[in-house]
Amino acid sequence: MTPTALDRVLLIGFMGSGKTSVGKRVAARLGWRFIDFDDAIEAEAGISVSEVFTSRGEQYFRALEERVAQRLLAERHVVLASGGGWAAAAGRLEGVPAGTASFWLQVSAPEALRRASGAAGTRPLLARPDALEEAIRLIAWRAPYYKEATWAVDTERSSVDDVSASVLEILALEYREIRAE
Ligand code: S3P
Repeated sequence: MTPTALDRVLLIGFMGSGKTSVGKRVAARLGWRFIDFDDAIEAEAGISVSEVFTSRGEQYFRALEERVAQRLLAERHVVLASGGGWAAAAGRLEGVPAGTASFWLQVSAPEALRRASGAAGTRPLLARPDALEEAIRLIAWRAPYYKEATWAVDTERSSVDDVSASVLEILALEYREIRAE
């Protein structure tokens, strides 16, 4: 049993790993709010994530993303879905407040692209002809950061239901106030 009470769940992982779909499901089961970093960024910027990348550049996006993340990480009884790049910076996961259960949703580059193809245009980093090579490169580079999450759940061949059930099972084992069913 983890002694600290659970205040929030944080999902990290590459684009297409299912953070948003799983996060919504887990939040519904816990009776908590679900918040997606990208939605909060868009609300603050007043333009889409793609437009932020195009008009202001990635560096501006990353600074805005971290500011929004710090605000959201202070919330209680929330399930948070980070953007795929947020965790990939020194100190990010080490710096999350106590009471945060973090999960790395794992996915391969080909599977991530397959899932992301339905949302073409919303992911500026993959809007390029060599998207597969770029996804492979980004995942390899980010994996050491993603590994800092408390738990990892492989999503490769699992449905959103299965991955959500795995997250809830882990939470129920670790936190006495959470029930899996
Ligand atoms: C990004 C992932 C996106 C979004 C932005 C950058 C990344 O979020 O934040 O396009 O660097 O991996 P999702 O992982 O929710 O698609």
